[in-house]
Amino acid sequence: MAERTCLAVVLAAGEGTRMRSALPKVMHPIGSQSLLSHVLRAVARAGATECCVVVGPDHAALETETARFFPNAGIARQMQRLGTAHAVLAARTMLERGFDDILVVFADTPLIRAETLERLRVAVADGAAVAVAGFAPEDPTGYGRLIAANGRLLAIREHNDASDAERKIGLCNGGLMALDGRHALTLLDQIGNANAKQEFYLTDAVALANQAGLRAVAVEVEEDDVRGVNTKAQLAETEGLLQQRLRKAALEAGVTMIAPETVFLSADTKLASDVTIEPYVVFGPGVTIESKAVIHAFSHLAGAHVGEGASIGPYARLRPGARIGKNARVGNFVEVKEAVLEDGAKANHLAYIGDGRVGEGANVGAGTIFCNYDGASKHRTEIGKGAFIGSNSALVAPVTIGDGAYVGSGSVITDDVPADALALGRVRQVVKEGWASRLRSLKAAGKKDRG
Ligand code: UD1
Ligand code: MG
Repeated sequence: MAERTCLAVVLAAGEGTRMRSALPKVMHPIGSQSLLSHVLRAVARAGATECCVVVGPDHAALETETARFFPNAGIARQMQRLGTAHAVLAARTMLERGFDDILVVFADTPLIRAETLERLRVAVADGAAVAVAGFAPEDPTGYGRLIAANGRLLAIREHNDASDAERKIGLCNGGLMALDGRHALTLLDQIGNANAKQEFYLTDAVALANQAGLRAVAVEVEEDDVRGVNTKAQLAETEGLLQQRLRKAALEAGVTMIAPETVFLSADTKLASDVTIEPYVVFGPGVTIESKAVIHAFSHLAGAHVGEGASIGPYARLRPGARIGKNARVGNFVEVKEAVLEDGAKANHLAYIGDGRVGEGANVGAGTIFCNYDGASKHRTEIGKGAFIGSNSALVAPVTIGDGAYVGSGSVITDDVPADALALGRVRQVVKEGWASRLRSLKAAGKKDRG
């Protein structure tokens, strides 16, 4: 397929209102990424050389998202929702450039796999003018029915236009199709709107191809490939299916998960082999974990890189910009944001490490806080190699602790500490000998007086 040119037309104009949300439907995420982005990645992996996303009047967010996941993709506008064929024709100027094949996909079917799209492209390369993704849903109500005979697809009848006999057909149109680029525009331009919904149906391309003596075929696919999202309930269901796929792929790649069904991954989570993930871990976008690292239970990670052999959690939070070095340790109730823990560094309990660096092998004691924010801007804290930060210290940024330096427990550090020095930033302890027993005697005397 590599040598064939392919234009993917992604339909994202027909906005339903059933999500009851201010967010455009195809911008809703599963696996931390928008429905649209899943479809764009699938078409790119299926070999689409160009892409055009057809958007409706409310399109700004979709344009930005498209540029992120398919750079140089075109955007076409369909200002009136007149049907799927009308939507594809919004991409006319791109269609006119000429391609070996055209893929038409819906932006709200995020589980479409590149392999499935490739099968449609192969059918076209093998001589079909139109190849349609067919599937057999449990309940075919609402879907277009595939009317086939002798291995040829003759027509697609939309549910509203179908006779009782046609409605008994179990094989339905999944909505995706591939068209031979040489015939696509001619077929699309012939499509009319004389039907129950008075829409320009893309599905009419099948009957028109047959009339022109061209061949149309159905390629049977799994229901998940064409599962559309129209409601929040379907969004949640689709998320569940995606999570199953992601967990399975991680296990196959050599990741150890004790209770995979409790681990939530992002579509872009990168886990090396021999990573261990304990139960109840959530991955937001942009996480990479190197081999032999262990992510203990109840941790939440996003935008973080975890080095080889590092140990995270239980109950740790790694936020964007957290970079944890080899064999470093981030323990319970430790939050790291936009900060580096170099190799072997440790923050084992109760700490906030934001905007800074903890040098190689340094130890950050329990209760240490990087005071990075002065109410207006963020400042950095640098901790040198092998330094030791005593428990319950507040490091008021910007501040630098030199290599090998010590900070006494309970310090508030506002000035830089030179290498190998000890810094104490707390009131001196006062000891009053015998004070407690004197107090007790006074109290005892008082009680007696009151009789
Ligand atoms: C479509 C198919 C039907 C198939 C079903 C599978 C047609 C005519 N019918 O029906 O055979 O079984 O999908 O789910 O194609 N869209 C636009 N502009 C429009 C109309 C639609 O961009 O003017 C987009 C929608 O956003 C959606 C997709 O095209 O992503 C399908 O439209 P929809 O109205 O859901 O078509 P169905 O009636 O479900
Ligand atoms: Mg639909």
